[in-house]
Amino acid sequence: MSMSRVLVASNRGPVSFSTADDGTLVPRRGGGGLVSALAGAGEVLWVCAALSEADRTAARKSPDGRIDQAGHDTGDAAVRMLDIPAATFERAYNGMANSTLWFVHHMLYDLPGEPCFDARARRDRQSYEAYNAAFADALARDAAPGAKVAVQDYHLALAPAMLRERRPDLRIAHFSHTPWAPPDYFRLLPDDLGAELLAGVLGADHAGFLAERWASAFLACCELLPGARVDHAARTVRYAGHVTHVGVHGLGVDGPALRSRASSPDVLARETSLRDRVGDRRLIVRIDRTELSKNIVRGLAAYRELLTDHPEWHGRVTHLVFAYPSRTDLAVYRAYTDAVLRTAADIRAEFGTADWEPLIVEVNDDYPRSLAAYALADVLLVNPVRDGMNLVAKEGPVVSRDGCTLVLSREAGAAADLGEDALTVNPFDVSQTAAALHQALLMPADVRAARCARLAERATALPPRAWLAAQLAALD
Ligand code: G6P
Repeated sequence: MSMSRVLVASNRGPVSFSTADDGTLVPRRGGGGLVSALAGAGEVLWVCAALSEADRTAARKSPDGRIDQAGHDTGDAAVRMLDIPAATFERAYNGMANSTLWFVHHMLYDLPGEPCFDARARRDRQSYEAYNAAFADALARDAAPGAKVAVQDYHLALAPAMLRERRPDLRIAHFSHTPWAPPDYFRLLPDDLGAELLAGVLGADHAGFLAERWASAFLACCELLPGARVDHAARTVRYAGHVTHVGVHGLGVDGPALRSRASSPDVLARETSLRDRVGDRRLIVRIDRTELSKNIVRGLAAYRELLTDHPEWHGRVTHLVFAYPSRTDLAVYRAYTDAVLRTAADIRAEFGTADWEPLIVEVNDDYPRSLAAYALADVLLVNPVRDGMNLVAKEGPVVSRDGCTLVLSREAGAAADLGEDALTVNPFDVSQTAAALHQALLMPADVRAARCARLAERATALPPRAWLAAQLAALD
């Protein structure tokens, strides 16, 4: 097999498989920024994990784990899917990555009895190490001499150092798509685990973040690492005889591709049926994955306060809440979705009438419907408690037909890119959010349209392709 000059590594790859009734494997193209970043990026090898039994079967069937790209539409990227044993994957992904690291970086630990670093957590950690080592082995095997490797996200924090050990000739980048926890929060991890994670990322030549805040937090955490020398002005960390540069690379959306997708027949059909359902009422829209960071329950509380304080909106507004199911293997995610649905039911019971649905909530996977909702939105509510970037805040203004007002959490990375023309709120302040929704609904159409056009311009200034190119260029 030929060796690659550019490699990307991430937990979730650009294609996944399911098994049809007759036993054949059916490929499905994944969405997201990374897939569009790689379209047209030239010859790249994308190394990812097999996420399900069907993926593992596909990986085993193909020589060397290389997935045949014929008809899979993943741009020019070749894909190598790693057949990691199911139990190891489960503990690394659900245990360590999603139940520990993701919560730490989003500062979300206030659950009774969690986090808890016990025997089970130690097993999760071992699996996480094995999972990262499997990536490092694959990358070390497939990279040409001096190749560039872009390792993605908190699932793979250890891989850069492991890879450097195996292949000191490579140029390695690590990119965090989440926030990075500030030291006071990062320190809740066992000391040796925190040190291992920092040393892992510091195995990279370049550590990239979506916003200035997250990069600064990372540097501040590195101050805690014995033996690390942080230069804040130069944004470098010297550790174990090697220097890591820290950089900020914002990520936006591909405007032309998104607009063309949003004008396809399946989206237009959903627009028509949504309009039929809500009539000419004003629309407050939110689109999220059902992640605990998205703050859907406080968003609903703000809508309730709007209806309580401003009865003039009764019958004249509908709130659309469309959510994609996420990480349903974790009890805490399932409980969160239940809390969203319960709160929604309360609001419907309190305000709904025979001829007015104040609230429509759907939890399923329907991207065309999200695009239809963006197109029709008068107000887009994006209020995460903490978010690496948040691309909903960037997609909505681009797809909006007549201009929507963005109500945006100041704790989303996107606030740094879009702040001025959005109405920014403290995501914990429900009353402030309710007041912003009211202000947004009252905003004159021409002001709204002008602000939305500027938001769309900024949202498309950093398309995924430029973002990836910046990461790779930082390695020169
Ligand atoms: C969240 C994080 C991303 C991460 C993604 C993975 O959205 O903010 O940084 O890449 O989860 O999601 P997955 O469905 O693959 O667990």
